[in-house]
Amino acid sequence: MSAKTITPEQMRAVEERSAALGVSRLLLMENAGCAVAKAVLDLGAHLTRGVLVVAGLGNNGGDGFVAARHLACEGVKVKVILLGRGEDIKGVEAAVNWSVVRSMKRSITTIEADDRYALQTNQHLFDECGLIVDAIFGTGVKGEVREPFATAIDLINNSKAYKISVDLPSGLDPLTGEVKSKAVKADLTITFHKAKPGLLKNKEFVGRLVIASIGIPPEAEL
Ligand SMILES: NC(=O)c1ccc[n+]([C@@H]2O[C@H](COP(=O)([O-])OP(=O)(O)OC[C@H]3O[C@@H](n4cnc5c(N)ncnc54)[C@H](OP(=O)(O)O)[C@@H]3O)[C@@H](O)[C@H]2O)c1
Repeated sequence: MSAKTITPEQMRAVEERSAALGVSRLLLMENAGCAVAKAVLDLGAHLTRGVLVVAGLGNNGGDGFVAARHLACEGVKVKVILLGRGEDIKGVEAAVNWSVVRSMKRSITTIEADDRYALQTNQHLFDECGLIVDAIFGTGVKGEVREPFATAIDLINNSKAYKISVDLPSGLDPLTGEVKSKAVKADLTITFHKAKPGLLKNKEFVGRLVIASIGIPPEAEL
């Protein structure tokens, strides 16, 4: 494996070592979400119609919540659609950041859609925004995409909005680049620390690839 890429397993080990050095998962999530917000802000022309963050229940969704907060701080009109219920969010860090965006009632609209019918009711959100942040799955994706995530991927792909994927286009295998059932077709993918091998094997779904540093100390490298 080239030193320019990192497997999900190696990434988890590096994150653990980073946390042991005092740069916690919460800090890494903050830096990741902030990098996504910066990439979004660089695409100024797409921002006038607002940004929709589509978030899953893992840490990839957590990165999306942080990005939403930073965008709101810059005056961008942001909506966050969570593909499930707040209480179903898996990690502590993502749950903290969900709680923050939920409390930002004046600057961020949040919606919980835990089945595909609830999502279809909100289809207009995918059509009216100028930019979609895909924060459904990153390195944690496994097997065929289940509902309501599969419908969310269709709604993203059918939208005319500019699409930015967080870490990986949701549904793309991080190691092989294989798409088992469906995946987001991104215009731009912002990945963290180093490229995941799958990103270099399926450029059709990845779009432009940006690699963002998230403050992992070099001493945490394997
Ligand atoms: N930890 C850190 O320090 C750190 C730092 C920077 C960025 N990140 C971000 O965290 C991401 C990894 O987070 P994560 O490990 O929590 O994984 P994830 O990529 O957020 O995905 C995990 C979630 O997806 C669900 N899922 C997986 N495959 C599915 C499928 N086929 N259909 C439906 N649902 C599916 C899982 O549900 P089940 O468990 O029920 O299958 C789980 O809720 C990275 O890609 C990156 O964006 C993390």
